[in-house]
Amino acid sequence: MLSLAGCDTGPKSGKGFTLPEGDPQMGRQVFIGMQCTDCHFLANDSTVKQPDNPQFSIPLGGEVRRIQTYGELVTSVINPSHSLPSGYQKEAISDNGQSRMRNYNDIMTVTQLTHLITFLQDQYELQPFEPSMYPSFH
Ligand code: HEC
Repeated sequence: MLSLAGCDTGPKSGKGFTLPEGDPQMGRQVFIGMQCTDCHFLANDSTVKQPDNPQFSIPLGGEVRRIQTYGELVTSVINPSHSLPSGYQKEAISDNGQSRMRNYNDIMTVTQLTHLITFLQDQYELQPFEPSMYPSFH
């Protein structure tokens, strides 16, 4: 436990990292303009074009068991190979451990990223808690 906590707060940790507040409407435009929709669709917003792509049609947003943290979302966009989502065939979404997601680091401004992340965060909802069927012992 202690060593794990150490990792979270070491000099190379993301602790303290935050972008300025973005504008979700502008983020939506970035999402569409940067053609994220070539490979992704929004689980909660069918007005955004669906990917017409035999290889990828990866949902973003919708109800999830655990909301990605801000840092995880930023990482998914600018360093997608860092952690590949589970639930997909590894070879389908990556090549030698490298994500097949398009790389935006040389074309997206920080301002665009800021808006995009605010927009994406709003897309996720926490799944309502389902009580387990096990008897409780307290
Ligand atoms: C060429 C296809 C492609 C394009 C274009 C693309 N992505 Fe992805 N994206 C992927 C793949 C494949 C994955 C799964 C592997 C990974 O996480 O790197 C992914 C994963 C993600 C994830 C993590 C999803 C999860 O469930 O953890 C986010 C967030 C994301 N993309 C956002 C974006 C955004 C925002 C854009 C546009 C700026 C974009 N992607 C453009 C292919 C793409």
